[in-house]
Amino acid sequence: MEVVSEIRALRERREAMRGSVGLVPTMGNLHHGHLALVREARAQCANVVATIFVNPTQFAPNEDFASYPRTLAQDMEQLEGAHVDVVFAPEAAEMYPRGREGLTMVSVPALADTLCGAARPGHFHGVATVVAKLLHLARPHRAFFGEKDWQQLAIIQAMARDLDMATQIVGVPTVRASDGLALSSRNQYLTPGERDRAALIYSKLCDIRDAIDGGEGDYAGLEAHASRDLATAGFKVDYVAVRDAERLVTPDRHTQSLRILAAARLGRARLIDNVGASVAGS
Ligand code: PAF
Repeated sequence: MEVVSEIRALRERREAMRGSVGLVPTMGNLHHGHLALVREARAQCANVVATIFVNPTQFAPNEDFASYPRTLAQDMEQLEGAHVDVVFAPEAAEMYPRGREGLTMVSVPALADTLCGAARPGHFHGVATVVAKLLHLARPHRAFFGEKDWQQLAIIQAMARDLDMATQIVGVPTVRASDGLALSSRNQYLTPGERDRAALIYSKLCDIRDAIDGGEGDYAGLEAHASRDLATAGFKVDYVAVRDAERLVTPDRHTQSLRILAAARLGRARLIDNVGASVAGS
């Protein structure tokens, strides 16, 4: 495994690769969810490039950029064990040599201002911009993203489609702890007591899915009921929403499949999760 931190070196390594290239962009602090992305890339592509970059442009000033867990040495061991070929781990100055002021940004307004984008203004512009840069640098045939960040995945898919990017964007199912909690680097912000309650978010999403599967069509009622239960258990609910899985709008007659999404704070952690469902009656 080669580790490079300069754009020039990444481009050189990429030039030398023969056969298909898979890209796994991460912010490090790797867990089994990230390793599932690498496994999928390894299964589908001849070469695997992983990136580790805590991207400052996707954090608002009041968010956890400074305290975001950075565990580079362990991350490298895990990537080596997962047979990654090249790791790109740049400093912010390498990615943004002119700073953030006046930076060209990629925005996907149809999908980025709702759900998490409403609570984190500008977040998805930062995500789309850094992913666009990484796709240009690594020129992968496929790039792999977790379904846990469903809105992020939808935005990256829309960006690749709208900008005619050659990379195929691949979503990989969420990896969960045994009680159902979606794996996330931010889970480590939970105290032991909070961790015991954290899987309630997933179980409420499953309750909604089961109700819809059973023919319930009152989505607003289901959302309100789940939000109340989470609030009662001490979560500060940002949203519980039944949406069109691709367009992220309130389901309408064009909706082919549903995604049930939630975001809630528990102590210091902002937890997000989602599950799929079929349209009621279909
Ligand atoms: O999902 C993440 O870890 C980040 O948002 C990503 C896609 C690596 C962009 O910084």
